[in-house]
Amino acid sequence: MNILITGGAGYIGSHTCVELLNAGYNIVVVDNLSNSSQLSLHRVRKITGKDFLFYKADIRDKNALETIFHDNQIGAVIHFAGLKAVGESVSMPLKYYQNNVAGTVTLCEVMEKHGVFHLVFSSSATVYGEQECVPVNEDSTLHATNPYGRTKLMIEDILRDLSNSDSNWSVALLRYFNPVGAHESGRIGEDPNGLPNNLVPYITQVAVGKLSELQVFGSDYPTADGTGVRDYIHVVDLAVGHIKALDKVLFSKGINAYNLGTGNGYSVLEMVHAFEEVIGRPIPYRLCVRRPGDIAISYADVRKAKLELGWEATKGINEMCKDSWRWQVENPNGYKEKYSEKMK
Ligand code: NAD
Ligand code: UFG
Repeated sequence: MNILITGGAGYIGSHTCVELLNAGYNIVVVDNLSNSSQLSLHRVRKITGKDFLFYKADIRDKNALETIFHDNQIGAVIHFAGLKAVGESVSMPLKYYQNNVAGTVTLCEVMEKHGVFHLVFSSSATVYGEQECVPVNEDSTLHATNPYGRTKLMIEDILRDLSNSDSNWSVALLRYFNPVGAHESGRIGEDPNGLPNNLVPYITQVAVGKLSELQVFGSDYPTADGTGVRDYIHVVDLAVGHIKALDKVLFSKGINAYNLGTGNGYSVLEMVHAFEEVIGRPIPYRLCVRRPGDIAISYADVRKAKLELGWEATKGINEMCKDSWRWQVENPNGYKEKYSEKMK
């Protein structure tokens, strides 16, 4: 049996491929490389010493998916493929609804046709919107505040409808908090296109000298130091969470949402200082106005994942910073300028 990984060349997907291969699963990867490089998969093979099939295809291409399901014994799907830039989703909503929502519908149609009903889906803490109380648990009201978040909410609803319509389906909705860090080998990590939107890649690019200073968005939030608080989770912990969720969907029915976070919140300045400790020098930053759409505090109630999946995060912020930094230093331009690296 093979596990199909959509979006497996991306940041979280590539780390999950490593953990799946190390755990003995056979995988097949499909990715259109719209936000990734095939080099990440080459490195997954190097890290694990294991091989797997890769299809460069779009999940909206039904014929391509048909071929993949026809030619490989797919037993379950872990579905990462999607666009994730919040700002871009505001200016190009149709691109997001088309790619994320229509893509997922096509994937589910092909799964259904081939009798594959086990699905692990990459949702996001963004489905909680402005959180009324923290830590936020899976039963909280759902409310998205931008088109990207609405694609996640719509897909969750579609998957709930599907599960209600046919009891064969078994689905895990994984609501990630803030994934950061990289594989400890320094070989795979997050490779944002252009100016990073997210805090950690921005900090590491300032630290490596590619950007001059970090803008801290808001210092007047109702938090201990006035800066926004988030639940940062190491991407390898997150990857392991997918294996636990896969084990769950393979041996049960129905649909369940799980928060994947650490349960701890850190402010922007706490993250900056944690990086300064790892790097051994100050990181230039400037306190600025709030970024529109940001919330003050977000961290997860992680009890459900611990109880039902037997999973909890093990890596703290020091490891997150160390591993992000190693990836940044060893790959200052991400996967770019490395095309000479021998690919199989
Ligand atoms: P990523 O962009 O690195 O990976 C997504 C991958 O999907 C990329 O390799 C991209 O090329 C591929 N892809 C996109 N559309 C596709 C399509 N139509 N067909 C085939 N492949 C396609 O992003 P990531 O950070 O690894 O995120 C993975 C998933 O997790 C996404 O669905 C994202 O929305 C979700 N998520 C990410 C975060 C985060 O902060 N990174 C937080 C919450 C949820
Ligand atoms: N921040 C800065 N400066 C920056 C970037 C971020 O101060 O240059 C601050 C933000 O204001 C926020 C914190 O750092 O307080 C974290 O911001 P990120 O952009 O790294 O992450 P968000 O919590 O805003 O959003 C992320 C993903 C979303 C996802 C959400 C929940 O980008 O897609 O986590 O999973 F929905």
